[in-house]
Order: sequence, then C-alpha cells, then structure tokens
Amino acid sequence: MFKRLLTATTVIASLFAMNASAQDACNGYTEFCSRPYNDLTYVLTHNSYAYVASPAANQQCPISAQLADGVRALKLSAVRSENSTDIHLCHTSCSILDSGKAQDTLTKIATWLKDNPNEVLTIMWNIPNNDLSASDIQGPYEASGILDYAHVQPQQNLTWPTLQEMISSGKRVVNFLDINADQNSIPWLHSQYDYVFETPYDNRNETSFSCTVDRPPNPANQEQMMYGMNHFLYGQLPWGDNVIQIPQSGSANVTNSEGSLLKQANDCDQAFGKRPNFLIVDFYNRGQTLEIAAQLNNVTYNSKELECDKVDPNTANDNSDSAANSLLIMTPFSLMLVGIVMTFM
Ligand SMILES: *[C@@H]1O[C@H](CO)[C@@H](O)[C@H](O)[C@H]1NC(C)=O
Ligand SMILES: *[C@@H]1O[C@H](CO)[C@@H](O)[C@H](O)[C@H]1NC(C)=O
Ligand SMILES: *[C@@H]1O[C@H](CO)[C@@H](O)[C@H](O)[C@H]1NC(C)=O
Ligand SMILES: *[C@@H]1O[C@H](CO)[C@@H](O)[C@H](O)[C@H]1NC(C)=O
Ligand SMILES: *[C@@H]1O[C@H](CO)[C@@H](O)[C@H](O)[C@H]1NC(C)=O
Repeated sequence: MFKRLLTATTVIASLFAMNASAQDACNGYTEFCSRPYNDLTYVLTHNSYAYVASPAANQQCPISAQLADGVRALKLSAVRSENSTDIHLCHTSCSILDSGKAQDTLTKIATWLKDNPNEVLTIMWNIPNNDLSASDIQGPYEASGILDYAHVQPQQNLTWPTLQEMISSGKRVVNFLDINADQNSIPWLHSQYDYVFETPYDNRNETSFSCTVDRPPNPANQEQMMYGMNHFLYGQLPWGDNVIQIPQSGSANVTNSEGSLLKQANDCDQAFGKRPNFLIVDFYNRGQTLEIAAQLNNVTYNSKELECDKVDPNTANDNSDSAANSLLIMTPFSLMLVGIVMTFM
C-alpha cells in the first residue's frame, strides 16, 4: 500500500511512514499487538486458490489481492498431480480446477510475508484425496522459502503467543492440516482439529447456517480451542438429470452481509461463549466481510476500494497451467465430480 505513494518527492516521507507503521501496527492495528493470536477474528477465504473464471471458483481474485485487502487466513487444497510428483492446488480432481503448483503459490505468499513484516497469517490445508502425508507438504514449504516463517505451537498447548510476539520472532505463519499431521516429525504443521474446530460447512440456504460443532466430532478441548465458522453457500446447477453443487457468487453479497455473516457470528458467540476466530467465506469481496471482522475485533475498519474488485477475472488465471482449467469446457463426468468435491469440502 505504501509502495504506491513512493514518488521522487515523497520517498523520504514514505520511508518514515513505513517505519512508523512497521513499529506500531500488528495486522494493521496497534490494538492487536498485545492480543493473543487466538483472541482475534480473521477473514478466511474458502478455497483461496480457486479464483479462475469458472463456475467452480470460490473467489474472484488472486491470493495477492486477497492479502492486500486484509484477508489473513487461507484454505488450500493439496492434490497429487496426475503426471508428476508435484503437489497442485485443485478441487479434488485437477480436471475440475487446477491452480498450479502449491510451491508457486507458497513462493508468492513467502514474498508477501517478507514484504509485510508486521503481518501474521494462517494457512489451513485440506488433503481431499488422502493421498499426501505431512512430509509431502514439507517439500513445497522448503522450496518456497515460507518454512522460515512457520510458527510452532507445541502439541496440547492452546495458549498462543500475542501477535507482537509472533512478529518479533519472525514466525508469523501458522499452518494447519486437516488429516495426516505428524507433529513429532514436522512440528510446524499442526493437526487442525486439535486446535481449531469448525461449524457445519454443507449449507444450501440462509436458514441452514448453524452454531454446532461439526469437525472434529468430539473436540478434546472445545472451550480453549479456536473455531472456524463456515459461512458460504453451495448452489445447485441442474445438469441433465442431476444437480451439481457450485459456489453461489450471485447471492454472496447477502451471505456476506451483516444480516447473515455478522448474525451467525453473534449467534455462535452466544452458543460457544466466544467470537469465531475464522470467518470462512466465499467471494470475500462481496458484502462486508472485512468490516464485520473489524467490528468483531472492536476496531474501526478503514474503508477502501478492494484490490479484488480491480481484477478482471478473465486475466486472474496467473497460476494455472492451461485453459483446460476452465469448467466451461468440462465433460459431464468432471462436472459430476464438482458435486462430489463440494460434498467433501
Ligand atoms: C497427463 O498425462 C495424460 C496421459 O499421458 C495426458 O492425457 C494428460 O493431458 C496429462 N495431464 C496433464 C495435466 O498434463
Ligand atoms: C505454550 O505455548 C506458548 C506460546 O507458544 C508458550 O509461551 C508457553 O510457554 C507454552 N506453554 C507450555 C506449558 O508449554
Ligand atoms: C434450507 O436448507 C435446509 C438443508 O440445509 C433444508 O432442510 C431447508 O428445507 C432449506 N430451506 C429452504 C427455504 O429452502
Ligand atoms: C446484492 O446485490 C443485488 C444485485 O446485485 C442487489 O439487488 C441487492 O440489494 C444486494 N444485497 C445486499 C444485501 O447488498
Ligand atoms: C469489544 O467491546 C465490547 C463492548 O465494550 C466488549 O464486550 C468485548 O469484549 C470487546 N471485544 C473485544 C474483542 O475486545
């Protein structure tokens, strides 16, 4: 953000501004510095990588725009590529939606972390096909350089450091894996359901959002764990005799509004005795997701035009391998898979 201010005449002033903000703010607010990592609410983009122009897309702009706008938690889905040992970011089958190598996206995130030294970020991984181990994920973390930033939270320890402590240590990215975590060997890749539970994700309409524990089935320590509030809708696309589930971009401005997103956050605050840590949303640029997170965090949101709204979705496809990623030219069989994917995600 400050970079754009850099002109010949404002270089010095801007450098001072950068220093001031670097020293004062944590995730954009001085108020957050003294707050533990688990005492804040973050906007989390569901399937953050899925922003290509496709009916299966969950977002409308690249991760770089998401981060610039204030998204501070990402959900990524790791799939072993058909023809190589590479791990790709895909919707279960890479023939539905393929956002390229995990390593490439992690490299971009690592660059962002380097350029933004006062930001703390969360990455949550799904392994939808159960075909990858924790050590498989370690490879792209090492190759991308992001491993240098990985925080280690000891097993069974639900007392998190403050944002300032994480920023001072340089360990500013918290990583979770839904299955196959192995913290004895790979301590930084945390088993999500030991630290974070989630509300139900399979919601089809505004009345179906609920504040019950869905995953894991019986959290070991629900009171102290963080939680993610799933707040996105699957739509129904008629396809021959079948109905396929796809993200609902058209109603996202309602789903992500105060009447819906903030309402569920308040309901869940009542139900669980604490605010949600992660607002898990599709199309975060629609509605008021960032404003609502700021409100839940008791800070004032500085309204601005979102980077996400400046991106042309047809050119947002910078990570993908080929035009074959578009659902528009998919076979009926792959479209069926979307329904399966969505049932599991
Ligand atoms: C993988 O290999 C098969 C068979 O050689 C080929 O048809 C397919 O296009 C390849 N897929 C990718 C993503 O390269
Ligand atoms: C738990 O983790 C926090 C932060 O990482 C650390 O300060 C604390 O000492 C740990 N507590 C125990 C009992 O290990
Ligand atoms: C909303 O979805 C639930 C299932 O999640 C369903 O039981 C209910 O009938 C739906 N309501 C409407 C108005 O479609
Ligand atoms: C959502 O967008 C539609 C049309 O784009 C508009 O009619 C409606 O008022 C919007 N709703 C909210 C809650 O912003
Ligand atoms: C925000 O302020 C309200 C009212 O003063 C208070 O009840 C709540 O605990 C505060 N929340 C946070 C996250 O500080």
